Amino acid sequence: MALLSIRDLDIELRHQERFGYAVRGLDLDIEAGEIVGLVGESGSGKSLTARAVMGLLPSAASAGRGQILFDGMDLLTFTEEEMEKVRGRRIGIMFQNPRESLNPVFTVGNQLRTVYRKVRGHGKRRAREEARLMLRSLGLRDIDRVLASYPHQLSGGMAQRALLALTLACDPELLIADEPATGLDAATQTRLFVEIGRVIKETGKTAMIITHDISLVSGVCDSVAVMYSGQVVERGGVAEVGRQPLHPYSTGLLKAADFADEGGRASYIPGSPPDPFTPTGGCPFHPRCPKVFEPCADLAPLAVSTGGRLVRCHLYE
Ligand SMILES: Nc1ncnc2c1ncn2[C@@H]1O[C@H](COP(=O)(O)OP(=O)(O)OP(=O)(O)O)[C@@H](O)[C@H]1O
Ligand code: SF4
Ligand SMILES: [Mg+2]
Repeated sequence: MALLSIRDLDIELRHQERFGYAVRGLDLDIEAGEIVGLVGESGSGKSLTARAVMGLLPSAASAGRGQILFDGMDLLTFTEEEMEKVRGRRIGIMFQNPRESLNPVFTVGNQLRTVYRKVRGHGKRRAREEARLMLRSLGLRDIDRVLASYPHQLSGGMAQRALLALTLACDPELLIADEPATGLDAATQTRLFVEIGRVIKETGKTAMIITHDISLVSGVCDSVAVMYSGQVVERGGVAEVGRQPLHPYSTGLLKAADFADEGGRASYIPGSPPDPFTPTGGCPFHPRCPKVFEPCADLAPLAVSTGGRLVRCHLYE
């Protein structure tokens, strides 16, 4: 049984008397011990999906149809009190901006020790030792300095590692990392992704790592789910989807990543993603798709199994 199973999920948006869908009929299974890369351009619904799992949707968004099954229980039916027992403790999240999640008025050491004492129930001395061990396991060297630092005194990469340490200190079964490398240079991004992957594997956890850069998932994730306009358009193993994608959108993302590596603009796919408040008919990607053909503007494609993966595109039906 999958540890997390998102089934037919809709996330509705209400903004200034307008109504739309940020996520539409999303299906995503994550097996225990699996690291999944959730990939897509800005606005594809990655963060709202993560926030729905945590029961932390912003006021403008709400989960409509669907289920979010964690360990067999539908989190969408949970009360806030029940959710508090899961949030942080069984499912940990690193939000897109680490400065938002780290408390600016306490040192990293203080925050880590508090988690070990309050969440894990350790005594003072054990909490101190565990905090040091955690930072060491993340490959940090100058541990005393990091422990004594306030979040604003850390570089972007160090702040992300401090946040990862705090999230892992709660010992969650499932870790969600939302764009954990945003704002860092390319080499630091890759290093951070590899480190996160290593720690997750070593601790036997399950993870969903969100990124807009498909090239970051290979070597770190076991599988990939590509999201466009609130739907998973391709889902499969990292060797297949991450290197030889079938869906024209996934292919565009991979080209964009290669193009950026060669010093080109990060955005390679012409046009922009659809606005959730003014949906297009047919395949949501059809106004931008280089392979668009006769049925695409009128008929929405269904997800079909082909080439060892699921693809949502008329070319494979
Ligand atoms: N609080 C909000 N109010 C109104 N619309 C929102 C809100 N949060 C997100 N949206 C809209 O929902 C859609 C999905 O947003 P989401 O943040 O999940 O995208 P994302 O894939 O995480 O993008 P990014 O890569 O930029 O983080 C977008 O069109 C966004 O504008
Ligand atoms: S269904 Fe048509 S428009 Fe959509 S991705 Fe496939 S070929 Fe392109
Ligand atoms: Mg996001």
